Amino acid sequence: MTPYGGDESDPRVTGDMIHSYLQTYAEKHDLLRRIRFNTFVVGTVQTSSGWRLTIKDSEDVVETEKLLVATGVTSIPSMPDFKQTGTAIPRIHSRDLGTFYPAIEDSEVKSVIVVGAAKSAYDAVYLLLKMGKKVTWVIRTEGGGPLSILPFKILNTVNAIAFASTRLMTFLSPSILNADGTMPWLFQRTMLGRWCVGRFWDFLDYVSKKHAGYDSGDHVKMLEPEIERQGVFWAHSGLGVVTLPDFWKTLHDDRLTVIRDEIDETKENTALLKSGKTLNADYIIMCTGWGDHFAMFDDENKSKIGLPHHSASAREVHVVNWDRFDAMADEEVNKQLPFLAKPPKLTFQRPLSSGDQEKWRLYRRVVPMGLEERGDRSLAILGQIHTVQTPLVSEVQSLWAILYLEGEIKIPNTETMAKEVALWNAWTRKRYLGQGRKFPYSLYDFLPYIDTLFKDLNLKSRRKSNPVSELLSPYRPDDFNGFVDEYLRKRDATTGEISK
Ligand SMILES: Cc1cc2nc3c(=O)[nH]c(=O)nc-3n(C[C@H](O)[C@H](O)[C@H](O)COP(=O)(O)OP(=O)(O)OC[C@H]3O[C@@H](n4cnc5c(N)ncnc54)[C@H](O)[C@@H]3O)c2cc1C
Ligand SMILES: NC(=O)c1ccc[n+]([C@@H]2O[C@H](COP(=O)([O-])OP(=O)(O)OC[C@H]3O[C@@H](n4cnc5c(N)ncnc54)[C@H](OP(=O)(O)O)[C@@H]3O)[C@@H](O)[C@H]2O)c1
Repeated sequence: MTPYGGDESDPRVTGDMIHSYLQTYAEKHDLLRRIRFNTFVVGTVQTSSGWRLTIKDSEDVVETEKLLVATGVTSIPSMPDFKQTGTAIPRIHSRDLGTFYPAIEDSEVKSVIVVGAAKSAYDAVYLLLKMGKKVTWVIRTEGGGPLSILPFKILNTVNAIAFASTRLMTFLSPSILNADGTMPWLFQRTMLGRWCVGRFWDFLDYVSKKHAGYDSGDHVKMLEPEIERQGVFWAHSGLGVVTLPDFWKTLHDDRLTVIRDEIDETKENTALLKSGKTLNADYIIMCTGWGDHFAMFDDENKSKIGLPHHSASAREVHVVNWDRFDAMADEEVNKQLPFLAKPPKLTFQRPLSSGDQEKWRLYRRVVPMGLEERGDRSLAILGQIHTVQTPLVSEVQSLWAILYLEGEIKIPNTETMAKEVALWNAWTRKRYLGQGRKFPYSLYDFLPYIDTLFKDLNLKSRRKSNPVSELLSPYRPDDFNGFVDEYLRKRDATTGEISK
């Protein structure tokens, strides 16, 4: 039977299935009584004994010795503002599409504008076309442009995500966490190896473009990623995977118009665009991404923790000379992974130096460096790494972070931490261009990250039964079943304790 209420004839995982899984998990592990639902944290300050949290619309405070922040990346909408005169056109963020579904489905809503060009926008456009609406998709010119999209099955045979989860992929996708050893040397530091890597991604890009039908002579041409080569490799605007069989067919429908422009203002039911053009619309869906998920910290704390902030004075809180480490890391990544040294041309070129990158300074993407330097293990950050394997990464990262807070993980000195952080940042910026500039992006590279965390835990992350499977069989969460018990057994064997 399909677990959590799924449909046996349909392998896709629905929102209801995920909800049912989380509910069952919480019940089974007696978590419900420990959760405060509908509680939004607006302030977090450090006290002599830990952290004090303040709650929205409440006098309550929560005091805690240790704090794990897992606020995700897609809860706080980014909603660009524009002038509105007269009755405003109803306008919602992609986050709220589910809530407003019945209102948008109404037959009075005939034309809808969608803003943004990444995965939420593609999904919104698909949904609206399936509802029978006329859609105008407004994509700004000064940005990353449309994202690259892989077919679910490459040449109708190989599952794209499964292939991306093989160890072979760790050699085809240059990663700074996987630069040592014979295979990385062969693939990344020989001309022949790099040639093979390049042709592999050329092929995958070609297949993806064919699948989309950019050259079929209609408006879908406007959705072609604006990058010179290998769009599905660089994932400059992110990466999507088509999971619905009629996805591209639906987007080719002539009820869709794609324009490159920006909304300046709305007047009654008309949107005025920067170019001077006007559009009539009954609804606007803003698929414009996400805001600050760490707004509960002020800039000074953000700087100390190693979270992005834009305050020049808070920047000085740090003791590390980041300019020196960033320059070193830039050179080191080019040397170790020459494939990344020469980025492809982008239609809208934007500076991609370390100075233009968001300042994520978390050791192993978890540890607040400024606190760790003082021996303060009261805070850890989770979930700020973007990969194709969220469930597995979350599980392993959570154990690692808890052990860190408990003092069980050995952390190196500040110099070594700073080097690790700078190398990661230089790598993600060069590897994923626009996405790496904004986030700790690591799309295809979740296995080297798992390897690194497992090594810290003294656990074995090569879990297949033979070398062929190790190279070609996709890694799935169940390959790592039991790793928490493995850790506890090893630890207790070392300390002479018996685990329950
Ligand atoms: C439309 C959509 C589709 C996606 N599809 C896929 C997919 O097919 N496959 C995949 O691997 N990934 C997918 N993702 C990404 C995936 O959802 C995330 O990687 C995953 O949910 C991250 O889990 P998380 O627990 O870190 O964060 P979240 O699931 O975002 O959870 C964060 C929680 O923190 C809460 N929160 C935030 N701020 C505060 C605050 N100040 N106080 C209190 N609580 C707060 C939020 O309400 C939320 O409950 C998708 C994302 C979106 C938006
Ligand atoms: N089915 C799925 O798997 C699925 C579905 C939805 C989301 N997701 C995931 O959720 C994450 C977020 O995706 P997302 O699409 O919601 O957000 P996103 O990747 O942050 O994309 C935001 C989009 O909005 C545009 N934008 C931002 N500000 C704008 C402005 N002021 N005016 C016009 N355009 C603006 C950006 O363009 P510029 O390049 O010009 O800035 C970009 O195209 C991703 O990791 C994604 O993979 C997954």
